[in-house]
Amino acid sequence: MELLTTASSASRRASACIIVGVYENGKIGAGAADVDSASKGAISKLVRLGDISGRPGSSLLLSDVPGVRAKRVLVVGLGKISKFGVSQFRRSVATAATQIKGSKIKDTVSYLSLEDVADVNVYYRARYTIETFGNVFYSFTEAKSGKKPRDPALKKIGIAANSRTDAGKAMKGAEHGQAIVEGMSLAKDLGNLPPNVCTPAYLARAAQKIARQHKSVTTKVLSETEIRRLGMHSFLSVTSGTVLPAKLIVIQHKGAGKDKPVVFVGKGITFDAGGISLKPGPGMDEMKFDMCGAASVIGTMATIARLKLPVNLTVVVPTCENMPSGTATRPGDIVGSMSGKTIEVLNTDAEGRLILCDALTYARRFKPEVVIDVATLTGACVIALGHHRTAVMTRNDDLARQITDAGIASDDRAWQLPLADEYEQQLKSNFADFANVGGRDGGAITAGCFLSKFTEGLNWAHLDVAGTAWRSGSAKGSTGRPVPMLSEFVLRHARAIP
Ligand code: BES
Ligand code: MN
Ligand code: ZN
Repeated sequence: MELLTTASSASRRASACIIVGVYENGKIGAGAADVDSASKGAISKLVRLGDISGRPGSSLLLSDVPGVRAKRVLVVGLGKISKFGVSQFRRSVATAATQIKGSKIKDTVSYLSLEDVADVNVYYRARYTIETFGNVFYSFTEAKSGKKPRDPALKKIGIAANSRTDAGKAMKGAEHGQAIVEGMSLAKDLGNLPPNVCTPAYLARAAQKIARQHKSVTTKVLSETEIRRLGMHSFLSVTSGTVLPAKLIVIQHKGAGKDKPVVFVGKGITFDAGGISLKPGPGMDEMKFDMCGAASVIGTMATIARLKLPVNLTVVVPTCENMPSGTATRPGDIVGSMSGKTIEVLNTDAEGRLILCDALTYARRFKPEVVIDVATLTGACVIALGHHRTAVMTRNDDLARQITDAGIASDDRAWQLPLADEYEQQLKSNFADFANVGGRDGGAITAGCFLSKFTEGLNWAHLDVAGTAWRSGSAKGSTGRPVPMLSEFVLRHARAIP
């Protein structure tokens, strides 16, 4: 997709289609007002006739509007002006994108970016615009036979700004948005692929592909032999029931010389049957999404590498399946770990923490500035926060703040859960250093507590994305979250936001 920004007025802009907005109750948006005066009232007339309602989700496509250079004017509803915030802004862009997706329009300029959106500057308005187009245009038809739906005709998206300076910021926002779309689409593809295709070896190849595409990136894939040599017996205990070989993937982007890296660790369970603690049948197919943490950190790596950001970013992905079999780990088994600590595996379905604890120990060798792990770790997290907020847990409240702020700015929000000492006793074991489960109560938090036992002295946070990484039901599919939040975190770290 080609990107452009423009400071020219809506009526004077040559384009196959300009996008303008009208609020409910007839208030006309900035781009629409310009079109209205150039056309001697074409828009206000349609508002009076009731053909333009301004309601969210509504739209009207006009052609040959007098006094307007663009071939078409797409008028979208902005809803109530008093309520116009980020989600209303994005909804109006999504409405436009949906109309354009099914059309022959090859280039468009959005004037919705001229609207006031509470607390959102032109950089973010441009970025959200491109991200929203990316989300609407995304499709996953890989496994469908027969005729594939045609790709949208759109080749060029323009974003209007009020001045040259604003146009410069809008361009940055659009470019960052496009890189985030690329990372999200990669994360969605990896999540949506079936578990017989998206295996640990497939994830490793996806990581190696990023290294081929970018000079700044190197990828290393460790085999089970090397994983064993490192003493990662906790990780290996999860893969013992499957015939597919486990991998430890390490991807490094070097953009800032000897600076300490930001390290992201992603849970890469390509299918979670539960192991011997077998999951119930209904909905088990969704456990192909149990590698969405891995997909999100790999996707974020693609975003950051594409932007050539002046940071060092390292991504670590432990990946395997969790299957039942005669060689699988039993409830009651005690396993060692790379850290030397021993773990009593009371429930083989609490496997995410068993692969992450070794990956987090491994992350120490990078002397990281900060370590953030991302995992579809607990059903309990979905009970606690539902599907709208990612859970963030850390002992560093400053870091929690940085992450939740990045979530707000990127419109990919997180909410902090307490990682307090009181919860730790739930992990007591009579036989090993601790157990891998802490009972039903506060299950998302005790999982975080388990990981915290392996991150002493690190500047570390844990993200539980069990509720946010994919959708169920008729819209079943990967969301690409939390790529926007992680990208924002790294963009801020690199001071790359204008
Ligand atoms: N991958 C699951 C967590 C999960 C379950 C995410 C459902 C989204 C929806 C994880 O490996 C798991 O099975 N966790 C157990 C932990 C329990 C045994 C302590 C869970 O949440 O039930
Ligand atoms: Mn599990
Ligand atoms: Zn799992």
